[in-house]
Amino acid sequence: MLRIAVQSKGRLYDETMLLLEEAGIKLNRGKRILLLSAKGFPVELLFLRDDDIPQSVANGVADIGIVGENEYVEKGGEARLVRRLGFSKCRLSLAIPKNEEYKGVEWFEGKTIATSYPEVLRAYLKQNGVNAALHVISGSVEIAPGIGLADAIFDIVSSGSTLVSNRLKEVEVVLPCEALLIANNHLTEEKQAILNELLFRFEAIQLAEGKKYVLLNAPKERLHEIIELLPGMRSPTITPLVDEGWISVQSVIAEKHFWEIIGKLKALGAEGILVLPIEKMIV
Ligand code: PRP
Ligand code: ZN
Repeated sequence: MLRIAVQSKGRLYDETMLLLEEAGIKLNRGKRILLLSAKGFPVELLFLRDDDIPQSVANGVADIGIVGENEYVEKGGEARLVRRLGFSKCRLSLAIPKNEEYKGVEWFEGKTIATSYPEVLRAYLKQNGVNAALHVISGSVEIAPGIGLADAIFDIVSSGSTLVSNRLKEVEVVLPCEALLIANNHLTEEKQAILNELLFRFEAIQLAEGKKYVLLNAPKERLHEIIELLPGMRSPTITPLVDEGWISVQSVIAEKHFWEIIGKLKALGAEGILVLPIEKMIV
């Protein structure tokens, strides 16, 4: 049995649950209890506050955890980083009142900064040779300047709307963050084997992300030009059609090049283009 610490609510919750579900982990739904077992896969989920996840993994209360990089860098300690998961992207930034003039990080010299991330901030200030006082609070950091508790804040920025509504502006991005999979350093062989299976499933999901499956009919004489546009996983699959001058082509393309590639395929005479979503990809 592998115990996975996940955020009980908040910015990572939805996408974490979606990833686990796509990896085939279905929960034995209870009420909102702390610990839930999964059906058909030897894992259980421990629901925690994000701030508590790195420590719980480091000391073995949980075997692995899915947590924001912000919390991992702040409190990671002995837990090891296993994989970047690529979702819940945000950043830890310094922000100051909107009307302040800002020319560089020396602005913070002698100032007071409110934050929930003192370790990350201290390291950054030291690296930049800035002396500032920290005011450590666990929530509602963004209101600190407005009520005179601090001159500036160091906090998570995602859409930026919290800053706007508190009349603040982001002036330094200190740490880009995303969801991470972290693990305890002393997993038993049995637990490591379950983790390996889980990683294999995550990889299949991550590989499929942003990819589409394309089927099309094309005139045979343009085959080489079409193949160049469609590298596929290894190479595209070509099937002859009853009509001798035509072939059917199947391949995988990256979503970000989608319209560009489709336009070129049409120009080469491709017809009946079908585009399908890919759920998992095992290479
Ligand atoms: C963070 C941060 C801001 C908000 C920024 O809080 O403290 O309040 O998100 O996001 P935005 O740029 O999209 O407005 P979070 O939701 O992580 O809650 P927490 O501080 O309680 O962990
Ligand atoms: Zn938090």
